[in-house]
Parts: sequence; C-alpha cells; structure tokens
Amino acid sequence: MLDRRRLLKLGGITAGSAVGGAVLLSTAHNPAAATGPTAHSGHGYTPVAETRSVPSSTPFSRRMPVPREAVPSRTRSGADVFQIPIQPADVEFVPGAPTRVRTFGGQFVGPTIRVRTGRPARVTFSNKLDVAANVHVHGGHNPQRSDGYPTDVIEPGASRAYDYPNRQQGATLWYHDHAHHLEAENVYFGLHGFYIVEDDAERGLGLPTGEYDVPVMLRDCQLDANGGLVYAPVPTGRTTILANGVVTPHFPVAARKYRFRFLNGALERTFRLTLGGAELTQIASDGGLLPAPVRRSEIVLGSAERTDVVIDFANQPIGAQLVLYDVSGPVLRFDVTRHAADRSRVPAQLRPLPALPPATVERDVAMKFDLSNPTAPVGVVNGRAYDPNRVDFQIRRGTTEIWRIRNDDTMLGLPHTFHLHLEQFRVLDRNGAPPNPDDAGRKDTIFVAPGETVRVQVTFTDHLGKYVYHCHYLDHSALGMMGQMEIVA
Ligand code: C2O
Ligand code: CU
Repeated sequence: MLDRRRLLKLGGITAGSAVGGAVLLSTAHNPAAATGPTAHSGHGYTPVAETRSVPSSTPFSRRMPVPREAVPSRTRSGADVFQIPIQPADVEFVPGAPTRVRTFGGQFVGPTIRVRTGRPARVTFSNKLDVAANVHVHGGHNPQRSDGYPTDVIEPGASRAYDYPNRQQGATLWYHDHAHHLEAENVYFGLHGFYIVEDDAERGLGLPTGEYDVPVMLRDCQLDANGGLVYAPVPTGRTTILANGVVTPHFPVAARKYRFRFLNGALERTFRLTLGGAELTQIASDGGLLPAPVRRSEIVLGSAERTDVVIDFANQPIGAQLVLYDVSGPVLRFDVTRHAADRSRVPAQLRPLPALPPATVERDVAMKFDLSNPTAPVGVVNGRAYDPNRVDFQIRRGTTEIWRIRNDDTMLGLPHTFHLHLEQFRVLDRNGAPPNPDDAGRKDTIFVAPGETVRVQVTFTDHLGKYVYHCHYLDHSALGMMGQMEIVA
C-alpha cells in the first residue's frame, strides 16, 4: 500500500502550489521507479534518471490509433467471457524513447470492451503489476462486488473475475483502476480503456458504425527530457496532450460521417474543444443518447465526462485538414484522404429522456480540501474524508433524490468534478440557472467550478450495497475526497 504520510505530503504540495504557486518537483519520480519495488516505500524522493536528448515530435506526424477491441475468449451460457491482463508495457510518447506504463492488455489505451445490452459479460483481469489494482466500469450499473470498490483490490499476482450484467442502455462508458489511494497514479500510468454498451434501438437509428465509430480518449501527461512519463504531485507540468495515447496525432478520415466518442481521461483538466469553426453534432453524453441531436461549435469536457459527436466530412475536399483544438492548443488533426459510401444518418429524434419522478429526499454534497493541517491537506466531502467503514448516505432502493453538489474550494480556486457510481443522474440546474449544454442528458459526471452548486436528480433502481461517489480529479479522491452510500432494500 502507498504510505499514507507520503500521500498527505504529496497532497500538501498540491494544495500548497494552488495557494502559493510553488511547484516542488522533488517527489516527482521516473516511471521505472514508480513501477519498481521501492516506489511505495515512503522515502519520498527518487532521483531522476540522467537526461539524454530525445527527438522532439512534430505535431500531427503520428497517426492516432484506434484501440483494438477485446475479443471474447468464449461464450458461456449466453455471456461473453474476456481475459485481460493488467500488465506493464513500454510505449513511446516520443518516438525512440520508450517509457514504462501500466496497461490493460499491453496497450496504453486498453482494449475496448464492446458489449450488447441484455448480454452479460464476465471479464477476468489478472494483475501482473507489482502494485495493487482493480477495475471500475465508470457509468456501469454493476453489482458491488464487480464495481471495483476502492478497498476491494486485485493484489499483484492475483486475478479476479468481474460480472457485468449490461442491463443498461447503449452508452460510452470506460473502465479504469480504482484501488484506494492508488487510483490517481494507476490511471495516470495507463490503466484506462473504453467500455461501450450498444443496444438494438440505437443500432436501428442508422448512426455511423464499425470503422466509422471511433472512441477517442483525450488526456494530458508530463514527459521528462527523456520522453519518460512522469507522475508529479502537481498537475502543472502535464502540458502534453494525448489522443488515444499519441501526442497530437493525425487521423485519416473518409469524406463522410463519423461518430467520435470523446472521453476526457485526464486526472484533472477540462478540455474545451472546437473544430476551427466547423460544426459538431452532439448525439450523446455520459449515459447515452440525447433526445435529439444538438449542433455545437464547442464541447466542454471535464475529467471523466464523455460526449459523442457526429462529424460530417462529406463537404470537405480530399486533402482537407481539420484541426481539433483545445484552448491549450491543437489536439488532433483529421485528414480527409478518400471518398467512401455513407448510408449512415443522424435522425432528428434519438431517444427520449424518461420523465423525472418526484424526489422525496434532498441531500447536500460539498467537496473541498480541509487545510487545517496546511502541510497535509485532506480531501473531504461534507467535512469528512472517505472511510470505507462509514456509510455517509443510506438510500432506499426505488427512491428518487435531489443532490445539491457544491464546490466549496473558493479560496483555493480549485475545480472539481463530481461522479456518482451505479446510476446516471440528470442536471436540474447550475447555480439556480438552467444547466449548461454540456450538462444535457443522462450524466454520471459533472464539472463543478469553485463556488458552484449543481442540483442533480437521480433514482436508485439498481443493485443493493455500498458504492462511492467522489471528485473525479483522481488526485483529489486519492486524498480522501470521496463518500460512500449504501443502497438498502
Ligand atoms: Cu471513474 Cu469512481 O470512477
Ligand atoms: Cu476535486
């Protein structure tokens, strides 16, 4: 386990930097050390390897890969059975400069698990790392024992089968590590992948499918002078942007419609995406299809949020190049290289949202850092750090509730994102005003700026047991910014 004192010390640096702008990099460690046997011994300082020069990567020179899809090893009593190792791998963010990462299945963005609504899946993950790990399907309606409960980890050398009933509607979900205190660095080093649920009704709509349905994980990272992946306790150095694990790549497209499933996989960052004035048609958010397509000129994605868009390249000449920009700079370039038939369409109606039943319970959820010990800040929800032995909210199954989610970190000026396990919710209002366009549809994660209050409504209809809700700035949840609910009969 990661030493608690060291964690708090890292947290101290995090908050200290937010307050005073000081950035202490002495605890930054190189990836080799991070996966080595002494990485968690609590010494707090690992010398950085000597610097060698690396070729700088030219923007758009590399092609964006599409993560390969996991193939079921067999089909048993109507369920698909997958095996995915959790293993170290060497990847090159800078060509010719391999760096050690932690992966699902050997690739930096893990194999995409694509499932059908109504067809269960069993995935056995075997942990070949030398740190504990576990697996949470973000946005999944799964039994507690398969939800990647923070203290329910797969120790090094062990494996574990997770059962996913897949009784929910089509949606772009993702799976990632959730081991208590380790989730931030495990996800940072690559324990993330897509989990896509498809349902028959959605298939019937005629949206782009197959090679024209492309998941894209955007995230940031910090590279050292050797091209090595660095996990520093402050995010300020995470200035390199990856699309499916490649620094500012290009992606060849045909002059037709594509569906892109954008996921913000960064630990703590907001992407503000534009396509040089071209239009994006949003069709889905976290929990699946919107009632109708929405034309957007800009998409804002907080950490762990998803937005599915259709981009139509049909009017672009062969040779056209369209750059997807974040406010921080270019992210990805679409190169129109060929013609292709297109029978896909974006119907005017997608999927209606269910009516909101009346809420009978209201709760407050306030996220902030507790700085009573300034050198060891603790992430708290309603004043308390996560304690697996404490249930914060007991919820009767079937109840509809309204949660007032607040970011109380006005002094630090720290944003948070809020994520609820088990169910999707709907945003009712933001600071008393109508929700943002990015709050639309069935959500499980929302961005909450300092001082903001977002009211969401949720009905707990699914499994019983203990589930967490937390800030999805995983550096914050690792420091305690997480609470626990128990759904009871
Ligand atoms: Cu994406 Cu509790 O996690
Ligand atoms: Cu946070």
